[in-house]
Amino acid sequence: MAKAAILGYGVVGSGVYEILCGNSENIEKKAGQRIDVKYILDLRDFPDHPHQELFTKDFNDILNDDEVSVVIEVMGGVNPAYDFSKAALLKGKNVITSNKELVAACGTELMAIAKENSVNYLFEASVGGGIPIIRPLNQCMAANRVEEIYGILNGTTNYIMTKMAKEGADFDEVLKEAQRLGYAERNPEADVCGHDACRKIAILSSLASGKFVDYKNIPTEGITEITRADVKFASKLSSVIKLIGSARLFDDGKVFARVAPMIVPESHQFASVNGVFNAILLHGDYVGDVMFYGRGAGKLPTASAVVADVIDAVKHIRTNKWQEWIDKGSEFMVDASKVAYRYFVRTKDASLGKEFANAQSLGEIDGEYGFVTEEMQEGEFLQQLSQRGTFIRML
Ligand code: HSE
Repeated sequence: MAKAAILGYGVVGSGVYEILCGNSENIEKKAGQRIDVKYILDLRDFPDHPHQELFTKDFNDILNDDEVSVVIEVMGGVNPAYDFSKAALLKGKNVITSNKELVAACGTELMAIAKENSVNYLFEASVGGGIPIIRPLNQCMAANRVEEIYGILNGTTNYIMTKMAKEGADFDEVLKEAQRLGYAERNPEADVCGHDACRKIAILSSLASGKFVDYKNIPTEGITEITRADVKFASKLSSVIKLIGSARLFDDGKVFARVAPMIVPESHQFASVNGVFNAILLHGDYVGDVMFYGRGAGKLPTASAVVADVIDAVKHIRTNKWQEWIDKGSEFMVDASKVAYRYFVRTKDASLGKEFANAQSLGEIDGEYGFVTEEMQEGEFLQQLSQRGTFIRML
């Protein structure tokens, strides 16, 4: 029998407990042994919980219990999650997490410690919520060089954008709803400003390239500047606006990654990815395009990915599964100003579009003018625009 400890009894932690207890027979068959929750660590009290004996406020109870072989870190944030995860790995315990902030910041070190101690640091739930993506990228795509990654990687912003586009809903109201549904981060700025998606594309591009892609080097824009006029102009282009995390991995080892809203044609698979759903498109040199779709946030979808890692860890006790990236500095990151796109521009200047070669006019909406440029390098485009309008890149 394997004993597990859950660190953090929030949305995901309570979901993990629910699945481990509610689906225990099935999980036992798959893991080859029973998995029992021995501890739940949380600073809060849960007086209505039927198993008060499981709760502790002292991490040392878990660390010093040799029976505990799996620590499930679903607390979020870097501290104290980092200290707890590191201590557990050094003690020879497997650590499973949904904590993208910690994986993006300290994954290099934690995976190396796991390897040295013949245990696993697994983080399937850190990207795409319930969607299997880390394991497929790491294992099923192993014969390929992954050349491109595109993803709708944040459920909260996709939920907000969908409600705004389809129902004309108010930004703040929908954000509150996403918080109520357990989709949003504790500080929802991480969602709406793009930081959450940034950490996720950092994790995916690090895994795909084998090199630590530091999230701090990824240009990141959120959805806070998107207006109703942008949505209407996009509609004129038979398109929608989505927050997209993207990465290109070049054959000379260079990597480019970005998070930004993009104009997505209705004919693209991403256009019909709505609400809390996420989608991730990988392009491998042998397999071509592969797409993953499912619920990107929420209690049980995310918890189901965590529990899958718990089962995997229990099946590979004292065997480190290959999963790592190496810190090689940041020289290999491509300068964002060199990357080319077509751009949708919204401006109060009726004649601005005429300054851009072959620009396609979208006419006027509510006193503002829209046009689409031809493909241009970003540096050149920004210079020509000279802050006379706002823009969204075209997918
Ligand atoms: N806040 C995140 C999201 C949770 O909305 O996608 C899942 O990582």
